[in-house]
Amino acid sequence: MAKKKMIHDFYSMKKNSQKITFLTAYDYPTATFAEKAGLDMLLIGDSLGMCVYGYESTVPVTMDQMICHSEAVRRGAPNTFIVGDMPFMSYQTNDEKAVESAGRFLKEAGCDAIKLEGGVRIKSRIKAIVEAGIVVMGHIGLTPQSSGQLGGHKAQGRTAATAKLVMEDALAVQEAGAQMILLEAIPPEVGEAITKLLDMPVLSIGAGMKCDGQLLIVSDMIGQFQAFTPKFVKKYCNVAEVIIAGMEAYCEDIRNSKFPEDKHCYHMLDGEEDGFLKYMNTLKK
Ligand code: KIV
Repeated sequence: MAKKKMIHDFYSMKKNSQKITFLTAYDYPTATFAEKAGLDMLLIGDSLGMCVYGYESTVPVTMDQMICHSEAVRRGAPNTFIVGDMPFMSYQTNDEKAVESAGRFLKEAGCDAIKLEGGVRIKSRIKAIVEAGIVVMGHIGLTPQSSGQLGGHKAQGRTAATAKLVMEDALAVQEAGAQMILLEAIPPEVGEAITKLLDMPVLSIGAGMKCDGQLLIVSDMIGQFQAFTPKFVKKYCNVAEVIIAGMEAYCEDIRNSKFPEDKHCYHMLDGEEDGFLKYMNTLKK
């Protein structure tokens, strides 16, 4: 089994131009698969609101839900670096609340780091969490928790003026002391510029191939989430097809009395059947 990577390993990977592999996971079985597949890092994303709970956005997700899922992922991937995603309203109000919420991911769920959305406007939150001794991953570009303000789930930084704003956010995240940053849905040119400018590992979800590592949402990547597919997604398999085919075959077997077979049955222990039949006869009128 590969040794668990820690934050300094990701800095070495950046230095040595080795790409970092990053994927979301929300549950125990997926985490076991991810660890077996050799993922470097897992994110318990608040995207579980849509992918697991069927909400329309990430906004309703609570801290308690995030902690529950993070605990399950930690049990499934004990040797993988895991990042807990701060849900909406767990850090927006003030620095104290942000530190308290971030601390829960480490204390209760055994996460190695936390992620939160925003740059310039949440600089003091990042600083406060870092000062509490917690590894922080910033998240800028398309920030789904504030998609209302962004006019929907839209790519960011596609004009010179908005690319400058993305760059200012990246610099604010670095100045606040975060140790990693995630760029979502921005042009590859901007992703590359930020990757070159910042010392910290830069992860991408829709920010081009020049970043230090790549993230996808597992439910998109394995073809499980059906509602919509962002442009940055590549589907590597289609588990929905496999699962639906399996369920159809199961129904078919039941309807045709092909399941269960004898090998699926718990027969009575040797010599016990006679006694049971005698008892049954006493019930007959
Ligand atoms: O919640 C999540 O999975 C995320 C990704 C969309 C980056 O934050």
